[in-house]
Amino acid sequence: MNKTRPNRDELIRMLSLSQPEEIEALYKQAYQVKLQHVGNKVHLRGIIELSNICSKDCYYCGIRSTNTKMERYQICREEVLEEAQWCFQQRYGSLVLQAGEREDKFWTDFITELVTEIKELSQGKLGITLSLGEQTEEVYRQWFEAGAHRYLLRIEESDQELYKTLHPADHSFEKRRECLRSLRKVGYQTGTGVMIGLPGQTVEHLADDILFFYDEDVDMIGMGPFIPHKDTPFAHLVPGYDNEKALEAGLKMIAATRIALQDVNIASTTALQALKPAGREMGLLAGANIIMPNVTSTSYRKGYQLYEGKPGLDENAPDTRDALEKSILSIGESIAYDDWGDSKHFANRQVGAKE
Ligand code: 5AD
Repeated sequence: MNKTRPNRDELIRMLSLSQPEEIEALYKQAYQVKLQHVGNKVHLRGIIELSNICSKDCYYCGIRSTNTKMERYQICREEVLEEAQWCFQQRYGSLVLQAGEREDKFWTDFITELVTEIKELSQGKLGITLSLGEQTEEVYRQWFEAGAHRYLLRIEESDQELYKTLHPADHSFEKRRECLRSLRKVGYQTGTGVMIGLPGQTVEHLADDILFFYDEDVDMIGMGPFIPHKDTPFAHLVPGYDNEKALEAGLKMIAATRIALQDVNIASTTALQALKPAGREMGLLAGANIIMPNVTSTSYRKGYQLYEGKPGLDENAPDTRDALEKSILSIGESIAYDDWGDSKHFANRQVGAKE
């Protein structure tokens, strides 16, 4: 665990590198830190995208509530349990339940039931991560008690002024940060993250994002490049969007985060893969150690286009698994099956708390 606060200028330096050899060296350095602190085994979490119904209206996101071009769906209990069973049989170790943000009781109770049933069908063996947005502490506790033990809630952007330009006025940065603190208090391994390359975002912002992760002492990081979606207010803000540059910025951010935070779990996200087929493997080589293969039935995938060009629209879960295993082996890493792959940072901070 890194006990000294990362140096902001050093973060800015890393994030500003532009020469290919220097960038390559940064990835190599990050990879060494990864080997030393978390090893070279990739942990998988099958992700089920439960529903695209969302009460939020974030300017960058394809499933924002006012996007009427998106058909809304919600996967029924039986189908979710089948997908969970499949993950368990594949020995994935963990799954993630993700959906748009909703706080109504019908929904929060539905999640509690799902968590309980997934724990039952796997005799407690499948680890459950939730990614279901802002909720009350009571709801977080209810889900924790039902058996979920990790939670992902991206802050999206840690600079409050920039945050305001990305969201309608009733979306509160403070509330989101409070949610992260509640999650930690309830006992979850807590994850957050940002998008990289947002309109108006600079390398200074990104360096401050990493300092935010450090200050909030989070256990897991999930972040990826911002990719414009045509049916959002941000579609027109990014003329000449460059996939290669966006990918590089995402990888540099992963590398700088690994070097700065050392023992956290870092996901190599689908947005990297959207920019280049091997993007997630590149993420692993730049310091990430988690991959979240999509196990949602392909019939729903069109409905979960947070950004354009999201890959795997018609690739089913078994195909994804086979391709992923091959590509992970090809870069000299392997998959840790039947393992929750908990955050080492979480374990270290528990030890630290007892000292
Ligand atoms: N590009 C990249 N990522 C996006 N997300 C939402 N919209 C976009 C976009 N246009 C991310 C957000 C959210 C996660 C589920 O998807 O960071 O937390």
